[in-house]
Amino acid sequence: MLLHVPKVLTADELARARRLLADAPWADGKVTAGHQSALAKRNLQLPQGCEAARELGALVTTALNRNLLFLSAALPARIYPPLFNRYETGNDFGNHVDNAVRQLPDGTGAIRTDLSATLFLEDPDAYDGGELSIDDTYGVHQVKLPAGDMILYPSTSLHRVEPVSRGARVASFFWIQSLIRDDGRRTLLFDMDQSIQRAAETLGHADAGVIGLTGCYHNLLRMWAEV
Ligand code: NI
Repeated sequence: MLLHVPKVLTADELARARRLLADAPWADGKVTAGHQSALAKRNLQLPQGCEAARELGALVTTALNRNLLFLSAALPARIYPPLFNRYETGNDFGNHVDNAVRQLPDGTGAIRTDLSATLFLEDPDAYDGGELSIDDTYGVHQVKLPAGDMILYPSTSLHRVEPVSRGARVASFFWIQSLIRDDGRRTLLFDMDQSIQRAAETLGHADAGVIGLTGCYHNLLRMWAEV
């Protein structure tokens, strides 16, 4: 599933993020790339653990944890601490699939990357190029979203960031280990949850059909979840 999550950050949060990013100590982006992807990656990245990255990471994580659309779609078990990158004119990141397992920077173990996320932090009019191109079974999707919006996609996807030809593209990116490993099952649960919400708006939460379907949702989640 490819999902656009609008307005993850409020206008105030976006302004604060931009202030922090403007003075941030950008470094070469190859530090978090795998062996193959390091060859294809030309961008800048905030060093993990620097003060700006910690503050920005907390801001993004707080926003994710209150976003009902994100929580319904991703069913997160663990979220990798958000990273931040900057593609200046001439920068790009060629075709790659993200690493399957990533060690957490605090040394508490590893996460399996079920979902990849890019949260756009720059106004799309401020730069040319820099689309996130994602290949899936239905073809290639080119994604360039308003600042504060996020795209969520299966980490199994081949993807790239197209060359930036004017300005700079700034974004946060991270991975999610989901309670539901399989994308098909997770998508089905998301569709079911969204449909139950719509039905409840019309019929009310006390409707017997809504109560029954909500029970089915939780029992499917119980059957499939890996905690
Ligand atoms: Ni990637």
